Amino acid sequence: MKFTVAVDGPAAAGKGTISRRLSNDFGFRYLDTGLLYRAVGVIALHDGQGVLDPHWAVEIARRLTEDDMDRDDLRTSRAGQAASKVAALPEVREALLEFQRAFARREGGAVLDGRDIGTVICPDADVKLFVTASDEVRAARRHAELNNGQSFEQVLADLQARDARDAGRDTAPMVAAGDAHLLDTTKLSIDAAVEQATAWINERL
Ligand code: DC
Repeated sequence: MKFTVAVDGPAAAGKGTISRRLSNDFGFRYLDTGLLYRAVGVIALHDGQGVLDPHWAVEIARRLTEDDMDRDDLRTSRAGQAASKVAALPEVREALLEFQRAFARREGGAVLDGRDIGTVICPDADVKLFVTASDEVRAARRHAELNNGQSFEQVLADLQARDARDAGRDTAPMVAAGDAHLLDTTKLSIDAAVEQATAWINERL
């Protein structure tokens, strides 16, 4: 059985939590595609001693392995910014495309979360979700999660800069697919969002 759930939306809207819950409940495999871009960004920064070289980032994307996604330095805000920068390079996206498509087609069902899953990676996904929340609510969640001494205002500015880059790039910008279900988690609890998404998936199964 092949069944793909595409989950897109801005940072800290709840995509990851919702995707993980859905993949557990339905027994589908889960891929956090942001980790691919984070790994490319972090390795490129590391190799360039703090400087991001676009040509080198493309090479890294072409050679990326699943082990690279297990690094323990991918969740920092620096990694998020680096990811967003390398993600704007069309050749980096191209290099990571087939791995994501193959994952989506695996037997047993798959949930992928990212920015362009419903629009570019899996335009034929069985169910598409676009998860959003207000900037303030997302920044508050990320601030609590990071707990690294950064102020709320810094976290908010960081998220807004990343959203602007992710939505404003020419290649595969972050945008809701025309046939995506919208889930605004500003007021909706994660439980309620999962319940709603579960109903949409069951309708298609
Ligand atoms: O989901 P995340 O915050 O871990 O993603 C980090 C960055 O990677 C994000 O700012 C944009 C980029 N990204 C992307 O361009 N396309 C994806 N499918 C996933 C992430």
